[in-house]
Amino acid sequence: MQLSHSMKSRHYLLAALLAVFSVSASADVATAQKLADKYAVMAKATDHAYTGPSAEDGKEFFNREVIQFKGDVNTPGKAIACASCHTANPADAGKHIVTGKQIKPLSPHANKKRFQSTREVEKNFTKHCNEVVGSDCSPQEKANYIAYLLTEKTPSKK
Ligand code: HEC
Repeated sequence: MQLSHSMKSRHYLLAALLAVFSVSASADVATAQKLADKYAVMAKATDHAYTGPSAEDGKEFFNREVIQFKGDVNTPGKAIACASCHTANPADAGKHIVTGKQIKPLSPHANKKRFQSTREVEKNFTKHCNEVVGSDCSPQEKANYIAYLLTEKTPSKK
């Protein structure tokens, strides 16, 4: 378990997390996998045809560009995808397209702090899915997304 800053605010979350799935001492990748599985269970509850996380669909979603509409549909902005900030290789560090700030890699293989906190992950999914797709992502999309990130293990050679 990761005992870092903001422990206090995470106290309740951790208690809740522990109740849902046990976080082992060597969490990271296993925890991310469990979170993907959890989203998959939610997805199956609403879509019985859903057969489980698809890394292929997750990759497609990650790179899919959506046109941004600023204000009204007649003034389209630029096309952005998750990859616009997180780069085409989620094992690499990303760069925010507006602020230029560096974003640590999304792949749990490259960044062990990823997908450890359900609350953080939910917050980021809601924010970024709304920014890019215009609505929150479905549990199915979230499961696929994490499944895809788990397949990206190697940072690009610089
Ligand atoms: C405009 C830039 C930008 C775009 C586009 C973007 N993200 Fe992000 N993303 C960020 C930033 C900034 C962070 C948080 C910084 C950090 O945690 O290092 C982040 C973090 C995340 C996290 C957090 C993972 C965790 O462990 O907490 C998830 C999940 C995520 N993004 C999903 C998405 C998805 C899904 C899309 C596409 C639908 C997307 N992002 C597109 C900038 C972006």
